[in-house]
Amino acid sequence: MSGKLKVVGVVGARPNFMKIAPLASELEKHPGDFEFVLVHTGQHYDPLMNDIFFSQLGIRKPDIHLGVGSASHAEQTAKIMLGFEKVALELAPHLVVVVGDVNSTVASALVAAKLGITLAHVEAGLRSRDRRMPEEINRIVTDALSDILFTPTPLADENLLAEGVERSKISLAGNIMIDTLIRFLEFARKRPVVSSLGLEPAGYGLITLHRPANVDEPEVLSGIVEAFLRIAAELPLVFPIHPRTVKTLKASGLYAPLASAPGMRLIEPLGYLDFLALMKSAKMVITDSGGIQEETTYLRIPCLTLRENTERPETISQGTNLLVGRDRDKIVAEALRIIAGEAKEGGELKFWDGKVASRIVAELSERKDMIMTPAEQRLAPRPQP
Ligand code: UD1
Repeated sequence: MSGKLKVVGVVGARPNFMKIAPLASELEKHPGDFEFVLVHTGQHYDPLMNDIFFSQLGIRKPDIHLGVGSASHAEQTAKIMLGFEKVALELAPHLVVVVGDVNSTVASALVAAKLGITLAHVEAGLRSRDRRMPEEINRIVTDALSDILFTPTPLADENLLAEGVERSKISLAGNIMIDTLIRFLEFARKRPVVSSLGLEPAGYGLITLHRPANVDEPEVLSGIVEAFLRIAAELPLVFPIHPRTVKTLKASGLYAPLASAPGMRLIEPLGYLDFLALMKSAKMVITDSGGIQEETTYLRIPCLTLRENTERPETISQGTNLLVGRDRDKIVAEALRIIAGEAKEGGELKFWDGKVASRIVAELSERKDMIMTPAEQRLAPRPQP
């Protein structure tokens, strides 16, 4: 296709925002080649889960907002599909770009694929091989439907090849979230959040927890809370809490004892810069997030991941990450080792270098000829698997 490529980028939930930000600004640097339209599904809507990221990361206001909000997986996915189908038909883009692995990712990928619009997935090829995680289903489906798969690591390429994805569709671009981290690290350093919370650099641990497998069952959650309380007796812990986790902590009567425990600071979800500032100066991070495993590896901060598996194994083999599952004693033992100075050191990962968005945009320019116009998309026979 010749002329300007109309690209629709879709975001919905907090971890999408730091992935679209560098791509949006890179595409906007080439107005003669690309027209970029940003669609927000509305999966996350609280100001602290949403608006603050747009303002801090300098992402422009979404051109279209679907206002979907929270619901069961089926309902949320279906609502996004209904809303995005109308938008995609109206906008008639050449390309839809989806990022990450949230419900907004898979829902918009399904719509694009069924309308025959060329689909690119940024952060393709991650696999935890645990289909109990909704994100794993989202990754598998999105990758199976995508025409261009931008991967963060060579292992992600291997995962896709093993599933039969053609090599020509895969492009090893690197970790796009690290583009954002590198760009904003200096701004984060200037944030006074560590001292405002009364903490000392390297004198506290930082916690995040929101995965359904950890927070939805009160029994599991209470074991994890007990581990936090034991660690907090040795090292102050700061815990910005996701709304899902607040709900279950309150419903199971765990919120009050946690909030009043000595050494424990429960706070509202933080914006990007304050969270980065806290992560950068922490003694350790305890998390069940996907992205934080990568960010701590880049920052060389020890990370304990409260999961049995990870779709980001390079953070273990080459980084500072360690899987500790949900076993209370194991969590405490590994935290105490870090406090005692026995932390993993980690190393550098290839292409986690701040240049991922520019590699992606260069690749899109190269592949431009293969991307069909909306009229061609409608007439083209759908390729058989
Ligand atoms: C979603 C993603 C997860 C990602 C996480 C980051 C899926 C399947 N999951 O999980 O991969 O790591 O975002 O946060 O897409 N809520 C609010 N305000 C909000 C958003 C959510 O109160 O702005 C509450 C609602 O009660 C909702 C619950 O949190 O029911 C869960 O939100 P949802 O978007 O379904 O999933 P997350 O747990 O946030």
